[in-house]
Amino acid sequence: PETGCLSIVVLGASGDLAKKKTFPALYNLYRQGFLRKNEVHIFGYARTNITDDELRDRLRGYLPQGTGDAEYVSSFLQLIKYVSGSYDDPEGFQALDNAISEHEISKNSTEGSSRRLFYLALPPSVYPQVCKMIKNYSMNRSDLGGWTRIVVEKPFGRDLASAEELSSQIGELFEEPQIYRIDHYLGKELVQNLLVLRFANRFFLPLWNRDNIANIQIVFREDFGTEGRGGYFDQYGIIRDIIQNHLLQVLCLVAMEKPVSLKPEHIRDEKVKVLQSVVPIQDEEVVLGQYDGYKDDPTVPDISNTPTFATMILRIHNERWEGVPFILKAGKALNSRKAEIRVQFKSVPGDIFKCEKQGRNEFVIRLQPSEAMYMKLTVKKPGLEMSTVQSELDLSYRQRYQGLVIPEAYERLILDTIKGDQQHFVRRDELRAAWEIFTPILHRIDKGEYKSLPYKPGSRGPAEADELLERAGYVQTHGY
Ligand code: BG6
Repeated sequence: PETGCLSIVVLGASGDLAKKKTFPALYNLYRQGFLRKNEVHIFGYARTNITDDELRDRLRGYLPQGTGDAEYVSSFLQLIKYVSGSYDDPEGFQALDNAISEHEISKNSTEGSSRRLFYLALPPSVYPQVCKMIKNYSMNRSDLGGWTRIVVEKPFGRDLASAEELSSQIGELFEEPQIYRIDHYLGKELVQNLLVLRFANRFFLPLWNRDNIANIQIVFREDFGTEGRGGYFDQYGIIRDIIQNHLLQVLCLVAMEKPVSLKPEHIRDEKVKVLQSVVPIQDEEVVLGQYDGYKDDPTVPDISNTPTFATMILRIHNERWEGVPFILKAGKALNSRKAEIRVQFKSVPGDIFKCEKQGRNEFVIRLQPSEAMYMKLTVKKPGLEMSTVQSELDLSYRQRYQGLVIPEAYERLILDTIKGDQQHFVRRDELRAAWEIFTPILHRIDKGEYKSLPYKPGSRGPAEADELLERAGYVQTHGY
């Protein structure tokens, strides 16, 4: 592993993302020994004029309070310094550079090498100017080694053109290997498990194709609404917030061919091919919804047609997947909180048990909550009678891996950026291909050509979505 001085700069240090995700992830890395006191320093940067201690006090409440944490929390907070400045102000970034350099000198960094990680917990509108400031004033200039890396979060644009513009602006300042586009779904344990599952198990290899699979669902549900984020959410809607990024990334890993190796570029090459094989989405294969009460948020316009729910079918035009619907479904204010992948297999030909009605084989990967994988299969109903029943082969992580702590997505991804591993980050051409799929339909939604159907909070979403599922050939199963 690389050693030497590591400076982590969190820009937007007093914002929501930083407090709720970035700093807690950094703390967990520190607590587990991945960030070493003698090497690392963390800098918060934001506009508010506060002292180091004031920032530390603000962050304390977001850090774990469990047994044994108090001492670690205090020593972690001591690693944090605060620099205030605006996002287009050379002076602020010069001050940041001075603070980092001071730290590097004080740590007597190994032969002057300097590793600088800039985490932009900021709205994308300021990315270009912030990147320019970093490039001009705060990046690593040591000719003795080290690096500068930039971490950015979605939304990367609103459509193809705006995303490309953003990519070019950042791309003029930093090279692709320096840019880490986070999609936190790629940091989830069971998403990271997908390639292992698919390519390290003989079971799946011959079955994972159009000959055996009837349809695949990738589902995201939340049982709460936009909760104070209505103003932000209304500009984007559920497709940009969840489907175009999180669910599509999962789809890539489910559908891609085996990469030549585990090198990040090989994996991302295969993901791009999947995206490029998606055919245009058909009107009749989209259902949009908006929950009743969404517009009660004063920051949401009364005439908003922004979808808070969508079910849509993507079709991949290649040898493996022709004819298999990939059903992407996401919604806010539904009846449960869950993210899962459901692979439904075709019926058994010449079924002598007449068991199709009970359901088909299904392989379910539950990403959250309670990570699990289970396989629905037909067995003889135990007892004297010869009848069949749907049952499950179940691998629930909590039971099987008792005592093992599953890391938070952000924790893992930040560690990857420090290591320089881009496997779980979105490459520029991947981003472009993802926007190419959704831009036409998003533009039409924006023009009001699709209507978001109303649904009750706490429901399954509009009934039309279940009808679409049925039309796509999904067969409900009935367990024991
Ligand atoms: C974010 C979305 O990217 O993901 C939110 O902007 C959503 O709207 C969140 O709530 C869900 O993440 P998770 O990890 O809780 O499924």
